[in-house]
Amino acid sequence: MSVSLNRRMFLGAVAGAATLASGVGLARAATAKPSPLRPSVRYGPPPGVARLNANENPYGPSPAALKALAEASAQGAYYVDDSALKLRTMIAEYHGLSPEYVTLSSGSSGGLVAAAVMAGQSGNILGPDLFWDTTARAIEQQALGEIVRTPKTADMGIDLDAMYAAIDDGIAMVQVTNPNNPTGLLLEPARMRDFCIKASKKALVLADEAYNELTEMPEQNSMIPLVRQGHRVIVARTFSKIYGMAGLRVGYLIAPPDIIASMERYGIGWYGLNQAGLAAAIASYEDRAFMDMSRARIREARDMVGEAIKASGLTALPSQTNFMFVDLGTIDAEAFRAAMAEHKVMIRGIYRDYTHWSRVSMGRLEDVQMYVDALPRVLDALA
Ligand SMILES: Cc1ncc(COP(=O)(O)O)c(C=O)c1O
Repeated sequence: MSVSLNRRMFLGAVAGAATLASGVGLARAATAKPSPLRPSVRYGPPPGVARLNANENPYGPSPAALKALAEASAQGAYYVDDSALKLRTMIAEYHGLSPEYVTLSSGSSGGLVAAAVMAGQSGNILGPDLFWDTTARAIEQQALGEIVRTPKTADMGIDLDAMYAAIDDGIAMVQVTNPNNPTGLLLEPARMRDFCIKASKKALVLADEAYNELTEMPEQNSMIPLVRQGHRVIVARTFSKIYGMAGLRVGYLIAPPDIIASMERYGIGWYGLNQAGLAAAIASYEDRAFMDMSRARIREARDMVGEAIKASGLTALPSQTNFMFVDLGTIDAEAFRAAMAEHKVMIRGIYRDYTHWSRVSMGRLEDVQMYVDALPRVLDALA
């Protein structure tokens, strides 16, 4: 920072303090534009806007996480040290593994991008027609390879047989998002397990389980036991969803240690971690009460949306997540998104060629109520 900027900052601070000390100053300060040195910042959605477009859990962070955050933030001068090992150890022990099986990243996205780039060194990524491919796309963005896609089943599910049949020598990694985003559909656990065992003999298998803790039977739906049994499987998890910590950026990958070591060469490591996020993650990892509360609110929201869309003559896919994929029939999903935005309800628009499907996240109940209230009006307007 230049000396003149430092001087300007100092003079600005003195002037600001003097102005604020007088009553006139207070009135003027209320109407003045924010100084570039003290920009006004908003950390959540604007008041009055229902943010139902990013699959967050607005009930988080948990009270224990908030307390830990404050404590760790006060120690923000120091680089991450013990806390990363502590969290890796907690996660590993919970699953009967040792810490070498776990790597932490900035959200699960950090780890998922590393997995994609690692796969790109030796081949392509195979995925279903529609999945959360934001991180897999790194393979194309970095011109390392491509995402090969298999068609969906008739009921919008992931066709595991078609995926298995499509694994050839060109495929380095198979990616399955389960439950899937944006459909919300969960694969039958025994079928997913058989698929992972078979497929991982031909290529690496990456199970993205970002929404696992939201399902009715998280343990049965997880592929983590396959890692313990020695299969070449990577499981991605995150603190962004049920833990309500999307802005705190903590996620993790579980995989055999040699695969963890390979992925760590592509951008995962201590430099992507933050002390406050780690503290919050440690405090909430086994907070069953908070997770039960979140699950119950999300279920309540799904019931509200389910009833509203039924009353409007629409249908949605069965979801075990904090979002629903609604079949709009003849209505264009982008027009629907724009019309909902006019009612201050933010939802997602079109995904790929799914031009008449609309994803809505389960936010706070009052926000979901705004969606429910706007729905008949928007449908009338677009009819
Ligand atoms: C299926 C899936 N995986 C991973 C992520 C990435 O989340 P994060 O990087 O916050 O862990 C998301 C985000 O929406 C997601 O839907």
